[in-house]
Amino acid sequence: MKLTMIGTGYVGLVSGVCFAELGNEVICVDAAAHKIDMLNAGEVPIYEPGLKELIASNRAKEQLSFTTDLNEAVGYADIIFIAVGTPSLPNGEANLSYIEQAAADIARAMNGHKIIVTKSTVPVGTNEMIRDLISRNTSHSFAVASVPEFLREGTAVQDTLAPDRVVIGTEDGETLRTLVELHKRLTHHIITTDIRSAEMIKYASNAFLATKISFINEIANICEKVGADVTRVAEGMGYDRRIGSAFLKAGIGYGGSCFPKDTEALIQIAGHVDYEFKLLKSVVEVNNDQRFNVIRKLKEALGPLEGRNIAVWGLAFKPDTDDVRDAPAMDIIQSLLAQGAHVRAYDPIAQANFRRELDHPSITWAEDAWEAAQDSEAVCLLTEWSEFRLVDLNELAAVMKDHVLIDGRNVFGPEQVLLSPFRYYSVGRPDLT
Ligand code: UGA
Repeated sequence: MKLTMIGTGYVGLVSGVCFAELGNEVICVDAAAHKIDMLNAGEVPIYEPGLKELIASNRAKEQLSFTTDLNEAVGYADIIFIAVGTPSLPNGEANLSYIEQAAADIARAMNGHKIIVTKSTVPVGTNEMIRDLISRNTSHSFAVASVPEFLREGTAVQDTLAPDRVVIGTEDGETLRTLVELHKRLTHHIITTDIRSAEMIKYASNAFLATKISFINEIANICEKVGADVTRVAEGMGYDRRIGSAFLKAGIGYGGSCFPKDTEALIQIAGHVDYEFKLLKSVVEVNNDQRFNVIRKLKEALGPLEGRNIAVWGLAFKPDTDDVRDAPAMDIIQSLLAQGAHVRAYDPIAQANFRRELDHPSITWAEDAWEAAQDSEAVCLLTEWSEFRLVDLNELAAVMKDHVLIDGRNVFGPEQVLLSPFRYYSVGRPDLT
């Protein structure tokens, strides 16, 4: 099939590339000329394992191309995907201006019947708004559908090529047949539904996953007080298939471009229909507090932080991505700076992105984890990059001035720590001091 993807962010780029990999002819379009120039030069604007190779092979097969010319891209395709951003407005609602712009641009460029599929995460009712907006601006026939995306950063290619499920929301029978045909090689689990339910499935899924994380983080906080180990608790819970073991890793809370934005947006969506989503409000509150446990534990170990040298390992909101949007590291480092600490920061991939968002004379940008730890009094591990797991704690202790390790992701085990001089604080497990 001939497909056009509007937007080359995570969702648009990865989906476009994966559809090309399945044998479709795909044009990805973006108004940002610098992104398209990069992609046409074989570079990838985001760090995502496996993506660069797939882009190269599909461009070579002429299955995939990139352009800023939306008219050409819309004219070319049978199916047009909208995968533009829906960032948060100051009140937490989703900003739909990019969606509206894309819909208006599509309407102007249409040259025949089109299927218009929204992949962006949009509030319930948005696809109907898109339908109205396009019908006011074109005489051509078209159908709309909602096919929300469930990929995760860091495993985006694999999540797209082998998803747990595909959700297709449309009220048009022929469109449904076409979209099932397009997706059927990806999974047997294709859920077909009405548009509003498809829109809701995306928010409900992200809100539920965020709820699991805040739930286990609260259990962790209680474990610390009663002397239990949250990793064993989560393991014991997870074998129950009704609970499941995924997303029960306690830590410093969720970040990224999705959970923080989508939980706030769902609270707003509920509010618009006079429903207070009390549970989700608590999930957000718990998450906002969780990251500051790192600071509390540091102070417990070192006393006042003024003038202290603190190494921060990991700046991305999760491993295998260069994304620092709403990363817990942002708030934690800001708090350290506000208390007069010197920060020695390191991330294998996300350092440049982080530095663009937050730079300060009291931050030293280290070339590697060892340089960050050099002469520090404490190491705070905030992102569980695999290279940190391999560190020998005795060798680490040898380069540091004092030996405090705050493990925000429960990377190290007690057996490693007990053989080292570290005073060790993790999440939901007994301190080893
Ligand atoms: C999330 C969802 O998992 C995807 O299904 C969805 O498509 C995506 O949002 C989106 O809406 O676009 P993503 O934000 O890329 O994906 O990453 P996750 O792997 O879900 O991690 C989110 C945050 O939760 C990270 O900060 C991670 O450290 C944290 N997390 C995750 C935990 O603290 N504990 C866990 O057990 C799992």
